[in-house]
Amino acid sequence: MCGIVGCASSNGPASGMLVEALKRLEYRGYDSAGVAILDPDSADPIHTVREVGKIRNLEAKLAGVEIRGRTGIGHTRWATHGRPSQENAHPHRDPTGAVVVVHNGIIENYLEIRRRLADQGAEFSSETDSEVIAHLIARNYDGDLAAAVRTSVRELAGAYAIAAIHKSEPDLVVGARQDSPLVVGIGDTSNYLASDVPALLPWTNQVLYLEDGQVVAVRPESVAVTDQDGNPVPGEVVEINWSPEQAEKGGFPHFMLKEIHEQPTTVSDALLGRLAVDDSEVVLDGLGLDADGLRNISRIALVACGTSWHAAQVGKFYLEQFARIDVTVEYASEFIYRDPVLDGNTLCIGISQSGETADTRAAMRRAKDEFDCHVLTICNVAGSSMAREADGVVLTHAGPEIGVASTKAFTGQLVCLLLFAVRLGQVRGTIPAETTRELCRGLRGLPQELEKVLRTSDAVKAVAEEYYESRDFLYIGRGVNYPIALEGALKLKEISYIHAEGYPAGEMKHGPIALIDDGMPILAIATQGRTYGTIAGNVEEARARGGKIIALVTPGDDRVAAAADQVLVVPRVHEALTPIVNIVPLQLLAYWTAVSRGTDVDQPRNLAKTVTVQ
Ligand code: G6P
Repeated sequence: MCGIVGCASSNGPASGMLVEALKRLEYRGYDSAGVAILDPDSADPIHTVREVGKIRNLEAKLAGVEIRGRTGIGHTRWATHGRPSQENAHPHRDPTGAVVVVHNGIIENYLEIRRRLADQGAEFSSETDSEVIAHLIARNYDGDLAAAVRTSVRELAGAYAIAAIHKSEPDLVVGARQDSPLVVGIGDTSNYLASDVPALLPWTNQVLYLEDGQVVAVRPESVAVTDQDGNPVPGEVVEINWSPEQAEKGGFPHFMLKEIHEQPTTVSDALLGRLAVDDSEVVLDGLGLDADGLRNISRIALVACGTSWHAAQVGKFYLEQFARIDVTVEYASEFIYRDPVLDGNTLCIGISQSGETADTRAAMRRAKDEFDCHVLTICNVAGSSMAREADGVVLTHAGPEIGVASTKAFTGQLVCLLLFAVRLGQVRGTIPAETTRELCRGLRGLPQELEKVLRTSDAVKAVAEEYYESRDFLYIGRGVNYPIALEGALKLKEISYIHAEGYPAGEMKHGPIALIDDGMPILAIATQGRTYGTIAGNVEEARARGGKIIALVTPGDDRVAAAADQVLVVPRVHEALTPIVNIVPLQLLAYWTAVSRGTDVDQPRNLAKTVTVQ
C-alpha cells in the first residue's frame, strides 16, 4: 500500500536514486508517483514532480529536467482517499510550500483535522488524507523539522509512515512511523528511508527498522532516532543478506515467472539446517517455545490473508494429521472482529509473506494482548513488523518477492508449516518415526521434483493458449489439495482477470455444477492420493455436462486422463507434499493465461503486494 523513499546524500543528485528506489517499491502501488527534491541553490528550493500512472511516466516527466538537489523524498501510490490524479499524487505540501511530505497508511481523523484547519483559513489542493500532515508540520515548525514532526504526529489517528522535508533544512529528511513499515538505510556518505528493504539494496544492506512511535532525522552523515518525546533511542543496525540481483528480473520477462522458477532453490533454502542428517527429526529454531512449551499447546489458531490464508488451510491438514491437534484457520480481517475462544494454551500463528499485512498484524496482536496466546509468525521478511512483534519466528527464506501475485513465498510457507507440524508431532508423540523419515526424505527430494514440473511450462502454456479467452474457470480439488484449488483460482483471477472459483470437488454438485455448460474449463487436481477415486468421479460428472477438463495427474494415470481434454502430469511425491508440487503448474497456467491476455502480470490492476491498511 504505497511505497515511500527518502534520501539525504552528500554525493550526487537524489532524483536518480529516488526513482530507482521507487521502481523497486512499485509492487506496493502504482497508480501515480512523485518526488520532491530540495535544491538550496534554486529560487524555489523544493522541486516537486508528480505524474499519474506508473513510475515510468514519472521518469519520462523527469527526463530532461535537471534537478541537482541531494536530498529528497518520493512516493508510489495505491489510492485510498481520492482517485488517482496529479493533484492526489504525493508528495503533498503545505500552502506555503515550505514543507513537503509523502505518506503511506490511512489517517483516520483527517476529516476532523481538515475541517479544523479549513475553519482557520487553510486551503487544500487534494482529496487525500495525507495533505493534512504537511499542513500540521508547517504550523508546528519552529526551526526544527524533527520536533515539528513529533508534535504533528500526536494529532494523527491511524496508520502512517511519513517522510518530510523542509525548505530551510536542506540536508534533512525526517521519517516517522505508526503501524506502517519504514526502514532506514545506512550508507557511507548517504543515508536513506524506504517502506521496504528491497528498495535500498543497490545502495546499502545495513538497515535499521524504525519502531512504532519513533521519529528519525536522516542526514548524509548521521541518523538520529528518537521516541515521540524527543528522547534519543539507540537503533540496532542489522545486515541484510539479500542481494540487489535477487530483487531484479534476472533475464525473465516478469518477476512472477522468475519467482516461479526460483522455487527449487527457495524450497531448498527453506529446508536449510532444518532436517537432521539422518532424517530422523526436524530442527526448528526461533519458536520461542521449548519442548515442554510445545507440549502445553492445546490448540492452534492460524491467521492470515490472501495466498497466505490458503497456506494456512494446507497447514491445518498437516497439523491435524501429524500433530493431532485442533486447528482453526481464520481470515485475519474476520478474526479481529469475532469472539474467538482462545486462551493461554492456544498457539496463534500469523502467516505472511511481507510480515506487514495490517489485518494479520492486528489479529496477532489481539491473540497476544487479549487472549494471552503465544504468537508465532511464519514470514518471509526478517525484521518485518510481525517478525519483531511475535514471540517466535519461522522464516520462509524465499528471498524478496516482487510480483504482486505470491508464488515462491507460498511454497516456502507450505514447507515451513509441514516442518512445524512434524516438529510438533515429534514432541507430542503423534508422528511415527517412519513417517518423519519419509517426509524428511520427500522434502529433500522436492527441489528436483519441482525442476521436473518447471520443465512442463510449455505444455502449460499450450493449455493457457487454448483457454485464455474463457470467461469463467472452475478449479476443483479435495483434501489437502482443496486449498490448492483455491490458490490456483486466486492466481488466475489476480493476474488474468478471468472469473475463477476454487471448490472442494464434492461440493460441486451442491451448486457450481449449474455453471457448467459447453466449453467451460474445469481444472481438476486429480493426483494420486486418498481422494483420487472420488475426484475421478467428479471429473466424469463435469465432463458429462460439457465441461472441458484440464486434469493434473500423476504419471501412469489412465482413468482421469481418459476423461480429460488436456492432461498436465506432475511427479508422484508423498501425499503431504502434493500441494507444493501441484501449485506450480497452476501458477504457470495463470501466468501464461495473463501473458496471452496481455495483462500486467507483475502489477495487476487494483492490487498491491503489501496491504498495510485494514
Ligand atoms: C496481498 C497480496 C497477496 C498476499 C496478501 C497477504 O493481497 O497481493 O499476494 O497473499 O496480500 O499478504 P502477506 O504479505 O501477509 O502474505
